[in-house]
Amino acid sequence: VLVAASSKHGATGEIADVIADELRTRLPDADVVRRDLDDGDTLGEVDAAVLGSAVYMGRWRKPARRFVELNSTRLREVPVWLFSSGPLGDPPVPAGDPDVGALVTISGAVDHRTFAGRLDQANLTRAERLVAHTVGAPSGDFRGWADVRDWATAIARVLSEITATV
Ligand SMILES: Cc1cc2nc3c(=O)[nH]c(=O)nc-3n(C[C@H](O)[C@H](O)[C@H](O)COP(=O)(O)O)c2cc1C
Repeated sequence: VLVAASSKHGATGEIADVIADELRTRLPDADVVRRDLDDGDTLGEVDAAVLGSAVYMGRWRKPARRFVELNSTRLREVPVWLFSSGPLGDPPVPAGDPDVGALVTISGAVDHRTFAGRLDQANLTRAERLVAHTVGAPSGDFRGWADVRDWATAIARVLSEITATV
């Protein structure tokens, strides 16, 4: 099971780490591989994939979009889950999903989930700080670890059902 994400400032990578940990706990016989989508476009031999990206300006990061586009044929042959990390604040804004409809379609994803993100002013580039200030994005860590773990648990349940019927 591939768990891979594209993260600019680390928040999305840590969500992927938690998903991978949860899958390893729930599926002790599975080989859960944790990768960074910025490290290359090769999908490799996988039986399932959980792919995610941080959201900037309403879209997934380019390496993540490219990975799904280049591997869409093979991804459609295996169960795929997509997740996004973006909205900030309490309640998180923007509400709703980023622009991932085409990625869901071409990957044949079972599900797409948007998780709240983290914005740490100290780590931003000057341009990012300006955008964050202009749109009034609040600083802080709004990631909901229980939501992330629940989603991973649901994925593990589906994967163990598939394995049981093979
Ligand atoms: C310049 C900038 C633009 C952003 N645009 C969006 C956006 O359009 N939609 C959204 O949900 N989150 C947006 N965010 C919030 C980030 O996606 C969020 O902080 C995310 O958790 C960062 O993940 P990363 O640390 O893995 O890069 C933006 C943040 C910055 C700094």
